[in-house]
Amino acid sequence: MSAGVVLINGEAHSPETASVSVFDRGFLYGDSVFEALRTYGGEPFELSAHLARLENSAALAKISMPLTLADFEAEVRRGLALTRFDESYVRILLTRGRGRELGLSMSEAQSPLRVVLILPLRAPSATTYERGIAAIIYRTQRVGDGTLASGAKLGNYLLSVLALDAARAAGAEEALLADHQGSVLEGTTSNVFCLFDGTLVTPPVSVGILAGITRKEVIQVARQIGQPIVERPLLAEELGFAQEVFVSSSIRELVPVVRVDGREIGDGLPGPCYRRLREVFGRHAHELAAVSAARAATK
Ligand SMILES: Cc1ncc(COP(=O)(O)O)c(C=O)c1O
Repeated sequence: MSAGVVLINGEAHSPETASVSVFDRGFLYGDSVFEALRTYGGEPFELSAHLARLENSAALAKISMPLTLADFEAEVRRGLALTRFDESYVRILLTRGRGRELGLSMSEAQSPLRVVLILPLRAPSATTYERGIAAIIYRTQRVGDGTLASGAKLGNYLLSVLALDAARAAGAEEALLADHQGSVLEGTTSNVFCLFDGTLVTPPVSVGILAGITRKEVIQVARQIGQPIVERPLLAEELGFAQEVFVSSSIRELVPVVRVDGREIGDGLPGPCYRRLREVFGRHAHELAAVSAARAATK
């Protein structure tokens, strides 16, 4: 299964033939939660943090977890062992499954569907990191906002799909979502950081963003190297005064943003704070993954 593997409720399929029912509520209503992560040296990075977030998202969406976290972890590792890419992309999805009827009521859908998808990692190009990307500000309200599921990683990413399309139409590669008050929240699939006079600023989780696992690592790494960092609401108007901007995510790691809404950030090149953090983060990720691989081997 060199092209990847898809485990559906634990059963291995090739990506070409893997399929689920059109009556699955993930398909019908985006009634699902998910996680996406990558490996370093073949070891899934922060797998337990991703599974804990999956469990939290599932609880917010009232989808029951079909496996314990330990069994989920074992399933992901089994999938990785079936593929053996240099580095892998891992997606873990949990849908509410099928109901008896097409109706919305969740009471009839009692068997969640779980999918673990493992494909070769396609990381951004070296140019992306060397030159940076352009972004737009996209004013919006996220799908889960104002509901109990605010902050969950829900399967419905239509908002991000539309925001990214607007970015592409403007010749940019990322959209920074801002609410109607002009508070910058996050990217389409990333968290955002800005540098002002030597201090990094990132919006707090309390504004309703996804609590990014890379975001948490970046905050930790910044503190370790003595880079001042604060979590506070960030206004779209402030971006024009930032010396540096970058976004973070599990798959793209740290990507510099050198232009926002057509205006250059700093001198239009990835800045020294970004470059240092990316280097230290890269080392840190490989080290953490090696520790976790050693721990898994002794289990
Ligand atoms: C909306 C959103 N915010 C932030 C992130 C970054 O989170 P993480 O670092 O855990 O990948 C993602 C990742 O996909 C995302 O979809």
